[in-house]
Amino acid sequence: MADLRTQYLGLELKNPIIVSSCDLTSSVENIVKAEEAGAAAVVLKSIFEEQFLLEGGIDSAEKTIYPEARDYLQSRALLGYAPAEMLKVVERAKKRVSIPIIASFNCQTAGLWPELARQLASAGADAIELNIYTLPVDLETSSQVIEKRMEEIVLASRQAVNLPMAVKLPFQVTALPHLVYRLQQAGAKGVVLFNWFLESEVNLSRRQVHYFRGHGQLSQVLRWVGLMAKRVKCDLAASGGVTTAEAAIKLILVGAKAVQVCRLVYERGFQGLRSLIDGIDRWLTSQGYSRLAEAEGELSWKELSLSYADPQAASGYFRVQYMKAYTGAAERKKKRDSEEG
Ligand SMILES: Cc1cc2nc3c(=O)[nH]c(=O)nc-3n(C[C@H](O)[C@H](O)[C@H](O)COP(=O)(O)O)c2cc1C
Repeated sequence: MADLRTQYLGLELKNPIIVSSCDLTSSVENIVKAEEAGAAAVVLKSIFEEQFLLEGGIDSAEKTIYPEARDYLQSRALLGYAPAEMLKVVERAKKRVSIPIIASFNCQTAGLWPELARQLASAGADAIELNIYTLPVDLETSSQVIEKRMEEIVLASRQAVNLPMAVKLPFQVTALPHLVYRLQQAGAKGVVLFNWFLESEVNLSRRQVHYFRGHGQLSQVLRWVGLMAKRVKCDLAASGGVTTAEAAIKLILVGAKAVQVCRLVYERGFQGLRSLIDGIDRWLTSQGYSRLAEAEGELSWKELSLSYADPQAASGYFRVQYMKAYTGAAERKKKRDSEEG
């Protein structure tokens, strides 16, 4: 059996598999099941900024929360999992499991989190994951403004509490490596790639636009983890599209320190984690690795022949690959046809 231990956010994990933030991770019973099935850590269901405002009865809540969100929160069980409840989940879970518990906030502004982060630290949370969700719809708000806000949220939380912190990011960012670098400078110990927005669809018979939860795209995660691993100081965790051991191994090879899974647990139950972990172990052993660490980042771009010392040359390399893929098709077809006779 290979040694599957890895380090993520300064925490020692017994293997790289983390159950990502979702409805399943809001109960202590499920956290216990996740540990029994082999998970190395759990990210709790996110607390939304709007829940925090409502629970605290903060005066500005009436003004800042979109009315539909307020009605939704008040009418649904979501209020049953407000910040006070999250603190209880952390306290109780820490008595029953030994794996790290990562609390998660879905936030847009810097002001509210430091106090909750402090309370979570005293409840025993091992780390914090900030899911900074804003869909940039305003024509006059630049990416710089949005990214500065992200930095401020990280800075404010870092100053308030000494817990390691990761930021879960969307992939639609103009210069993702630079943003990750800045968040790292602001104090993030890790980033989670990625946070998946709602997707849009049009219902033709009703002539209505509707939204649905998007599926994580493994190819996007592979690209960006591979591009940044070993070049940024913070740890990279992958989230999106991992339902097999093969997918998890690919992410580790390109440089992920941890792999978060969600859909797998919905589809196959917590037992799905066990076969994922066993599959990683079997593959490593069959390939002659005795430790996961030997495979970590072996196929990151940094380890390949490409040199990042000259970013322009690196950009040039990717342009050529793109050029080859999109211009050589006719030539390749001609060659295939002539080979086939
Ligand atoms: C029902 C459900 C609830 C989720 N809730 C959250 C959440 O509260 N916070 C968060 O950061 N991600 C949330 N996610 C996203 C997952 O953590 C994960 O990033 C996403 O599902 C992609 O991973 P997957 O392909 O393994 O499912 C949720 C996903 C699902 C399916």
